[in-house]
Amino acid sequence: MSAYPTEANFLRTLKIERVVKESSLVKTFFFNDKLCAKGKPGQFVMVWLPGFDEIPMSISSAGPKDFASITAANVGEATKLLHKKERNDIIGIRGPLGNSFQPTNGKVLLVGGGTGIAPLLFLTARLLELKANVTFLFGAKTKDELVFLPQIERTLSKAGNVAAASTEDGSYGQEGVVTELAEETMKKDKFDMIYTCGKERMLLKIFMLAEKHKTPLQASLERLMRCAIGLCGSCTIGKYRVCVDGPVFTNRQLREVKGEFGCCKRDFDGRRIPV
Ligand SMILES: Cc1cc2nc3c(=O)[nH]c(=O)nc-3n(C[C@H](O)[C@H](O)[C@H](O)COP(=O)(O)OP(=O)(O)OC[C@H]3O[C@@H](n4cnc5c(N)ncnc54)[C@H](O)[C@@H]3O)c2cc1C
Ligand code: FES
Repeated sequence: MSAYPTEANFLRTLKIERVVKESSLVKTFFFNDKLCAKGKPGQFVMVWLPGFDEIPMSISSAGPKDFASITAANVGEATKLLHKKERNDIIGIRGPLGNSFQPTNGKVLLVGGGTGIAPLLFLTARLLELKANVTFLFGAKTKDELVFLPQIERTLSKAGNVAAASTEDGSYGQEGVVTELAEETMKKDKFDMIYTCGKERMLLKIFMLAEKHKTPLQASLERLMRCAIGLCGSCTIGKYRVCVDGPVFTNRQLREVKGEFGCCKRDFDGRRIPV
């Protein structure tokens, strides 16, 4: 198990500096924090909503200066409360926590679904600095739920890079799920690395494609998190704790946890429930 950075685990209370509505369900919250501004793509923070709950969120951007952001979908009680927050409201932050995606140059494929697109867009900026050749596939149920569409198209507009979308209702890009788009893309092209983030059933399909095509993979997993520093065990997958050994896992590690990956996680009472 990796050691966790003590300084990052101190809770800081800070003001929300800016809120951007990305879609009817998703908002990005910008804040000022020196540590998070040094965060890496794939790392996450624990967001404390005073008097209510503390929830994990990926860092969706870091910098310039001391700015960082999280991008949250409104899916339940805590995220509903977060979505009510405005500029100058107070939240608490611990982090950056966990490991990160390892950027590489060469020909890389990124596959993101829903808010999983946010950390991958953050990663894309690092990959382009390394002069990687990027293919970015992203999907959602509808066009309205496709977040960061203009940013992705702008970031990948340089020659040689590709951005393609799929929506389940066909309202934008190819009709269907993003894993179908990935399967077609991988039939035509060979990649040096795949990065993926989204719902675990999607990650499992991308993992199976990576195994079929013998392509290295880095996938960011979600589990219920309480302590986020490796103590409580609520985020375990096989021998790993997602909060400290992940959230990013390689194909080798995912092979080791095949019985659980894409199948089950623990609920707040420690019971196994389907993902
Ligand atoms: C490492 C990591 C990074 C994440 N990054 C993002 C992100 O960038 N954007 C985003 O919108 N969501 C992200 N999530 C998911 C987010 O934490 C949950 O959607 C959020 O906690 C839901 O809280 P809620 O009270 O609004 O919903 P609830 O009504 O409690 O639950 C809604 C869903 O969220 C899950 N969930 C609830 N509490 C937690 C928790 N403490 N830890 C993990 N999952 C939980 C539940 O299993 C359920 O599927 C991330 C999760 C992890 C583990
Ligand atoms: S949340 Fe990972 S061990 Fe507590």
